[in-house]
Amino acid sequence: MQGEQGYHDHVPVYASGSEVLQKLEEKWKSTKQQRYPAMYSSVVGGIILDPSMMVIPIDDHMVHRGHGVFDTATISDGYLYELDSHLDRLLTSASKSKIKSPFSHETLRAILLQMTAASNCRNGSIKYWLSAGPGDFLLSTNGCTGPAFYAVVIAGAATSPAAAGHPRLAAGVKAITTTVPMKHPFFAATKTVNYLPNALAMAEAEELGAYAPVWVDDAGHVAEGPTMNVAFVTRGGDLVVPAFDGILGGCTAKRVLALAPRLVDAGVLRGVAVAKISAGDARRCAEMMFVGSGLPLLPVVEWDGKPVGDGEVGKIALALSNLLCEDMKAGPDRVLIPYDETS
Ligand SMILES: Cc1ncc(COP(=O)(O)O)c(C=O)c1O
Repeated sequence: MQGEQGYHDHVPVYASGSEVLQKLEEKWKSTKQQRYPAMYSSVVGGIILDPSMMVIPIDDHMVHRGHGVFDTATISDGYLYELDSHLDRLLTSASKSKIKSPFSHETLRAILLQMTAASNCRNGSIKYWLSAGPGDFLLSTNGCTGPAFYAVVIAGAATSPAAAGHPRLAAGVKAITTTVPMKHPFFAATKTVNYLPNALAMAEAEELGAYAPVWVDDAGHVAEGPTMNVAFVTRGGDLVVPAFDGILGGCTAKRVLALAPRLVDAGVLRGVAVAKISAGDARRCAEMMFVGSGLPLLPVVEWDGKPVGDGEVGKIALALSNLLCEDMKAGPDRVLIPYDETS
């Protein structure tokens, strides 16, 4: 690759696809960047294993207009965790975004299972997108050739920082309240590719030495994090998950809500609630945590420079983390979808 100066009078022109492919192959060979073991593209109509060819068209409306939705799922020891809940949310986001999925839920699921099997990946995550599709650079979708579906496998246990023994789980993380304006509730509750506010809020948190930001809405209620929900444990022992009004309905937070009654039965929690919670009440809680598919749960020990509870990792956060991690390894069939048997 030539230096910046070289571009001032000579930008290389590659007329043939094979030259471009050679350049892309060189890039992937020379970079330390993670290689992705598999991609699916409905434009190609199949699974791609060569990272140099994992591309999407530049005239795709998801690229130049942000007209696309996406979702994820965790790969856990040969299973896709909670795939159906994530696919339901993808299709809801698509329909709210006027994107007609080219495939049914069952076909999307079959594609994702076969892509993950073809990747030979045992731990990591998948990401997938439904887009208004390629066609032109206008705003209207009338010129698009039809909606597109793309997906990719991201290998590596690093996507799960809360794996047992991980320092972030052991020590807890810091949160800040972000000053970045919140998305309008319609857009916050739809998982579109427009994550600029989320990226800016994350940058703000990182600049302040925190792990992640938290939004508090105009009415003073705690909303969510940039790619995660939040949850609290009151001093009386109730788990409170902020109501999913105007924020993303997190699949992991919903799974926590399904599993947490076990801690009530065990006498560890007093109750479980989904409710609006003011930032003031939240700051008086004994425990706070981030919850989301990539984590799946991280205790928050400091919020806006003040300790949460006693400033230590809470025992209920750890108990919930254990329940989630167990569920990811040995949960019911409906949450653990095997992909190896499809190969
Ligand atoms: C804005 C936002 N909130 C919450 C979540 C948590 O959702 P989930 O548990 O389904 O990953 C995510 C992640 O998708 C997100 O992007």
